[in-house]
Amino acid sequence: MAAVTIKDVWKYYGKTLAVKELNLEIKKNEFMCLLGPSGCGKSTTLRMLAGLEFISSGDIHFDDVRVNDLPPRERDIAMVFENYALYPHKTVFENLANPLKLRKMSRSEIVERVRRAAEMLEISELLNRKPGELSGGQKQRTAIGRAIVREPKVFLFDEPIAHLDAKLRSHMRGELKHLQRRLETTTVYVTHDQLEGMSMADRIAVMHEGVLQQLGTPSEIYNHPANEFVAGFVGEPPMNFLDVRLERSNEGLSVVHPAFQLTLTDAQRHLLENGNAESDTRIGIRPDNLLIESGDGGSLDIAGSIFVTEPLGGDMLIEANLDAETRVMVKTKIREMGGPGDPCRIGFDIEKLHVFNKETGVAYF
Ligand SMILES: Nc1ncnc2c1ncn2[C@@H]1O[C@H](COP(=O)(O)OP(=O)(O)OP(=O)(O)O)[C@@H](O)[C@H]1O
Ligand SMILES: [Mg+2]
Repeated sequence: MAAVTIKDVWKYYGKTLAVKELNLEIKKNEFMCLLGPSGCGKSTTLRMLAGLEFISSGDIHFDDVRVNDLPPRERDIAMVFENYALYPHKTVFENLANPLKLRKMSRSEIVERVRRAAEMLEISELLNRKPGELSGGQKQRTAIGRAIVREPKVFLFDEPIAHLDAKLRSHMRGELKHLQRRLETTTVYVTHDQLEGMSMADRIAVMHEGVLQQLGTPSEIYNHPANEFVAGFVGEPPMNFLDVRLERSNEGLSVVHPAFQLTLTDAQRHLLENGNAESDTRIGIRPDNLLIESGDGGSLDIAGSIFVTEPLGGDMLIEANLDAETRVMVKTKIREMGGPGDPCRIGFDIEKLHVFNKETGVAYF
């Protein structure tokens, strides 16, 4: 249970810059998720915390201890990877007991710790089996068990459930979150799956090309993305982005697109004015923040047409054309929307609109 501080950390592999000037403070007992696409530097960051990778420059502290030069075994961390490398010839019990044996713990203490961990993970009845006789989820829990018996200061997880099937993954998300709360152990969890980050983490650090893009709670990241990258990466289906112009009119400030015009709220106008927004900008709106009506008789502003509908059980995803060049994704509860080519009307929930600088991608709001 240590706080972890990453200060001005850079990592080069030869000439490849993997992590750029990373600053991150992970609080004691916090569940921090490192989220980002493949190659963004998540595993590199985790491996630097573990001591498996040298730091090119900067400092890492566990509480007040600078750990830059400490070897992994002296850092008091436990790591779980996607391929969890259980010993195939040892039983589940022996797999869990092994890290404790290496620490020369007494037999009775080992038995007690393994018993407690197995109970927590519901693998008590599997203790005499070998990894080859376990399902994917059971192997996964065994690997987690091997990490928790050590009662480390910090847990490091690298995509530990990435290869499980969707149902088991969703189950394990809940289990891991519950377990982390119960063990109260500082956790750094790497994933490229935004749903895992959103559902489990206290805070998320979104990374892209080795650079931290935004640090915040899942709700901050989702509702107030700092830039276009974060806005597009978090949320499924992804946010719609459209190029627009900002124009003044009698009503105030408007977003003008060939297919529609929207008047912004006063608060939004202020944010754009204070940010000296250029007139060429980009807007973003999540599929659930677009409104849709079937047919052409409704009251919503924009006349469009259905491109395709995808029923998802409770919700329906609709791709709709606003004009010949503009297609948006809408998520709705409405069950009957007609089929391809049918008319529809579309509106924006203006309060939920995001506006980005077209050059830099930085969000005005
Ligand atoms: N041992 C290595 N030698 C050289 N380059 C490396 C090495 N490990 C990683 N890299 C490079 O560093 C960058 C970051 O890699 P990293 O493994 O941290 O990405 P990641 O975010 O974990 O991606 P993924 O989701 O695919 O696991 C990538 O450009 C990668 O090619
Ligand atoms: Mg990785």
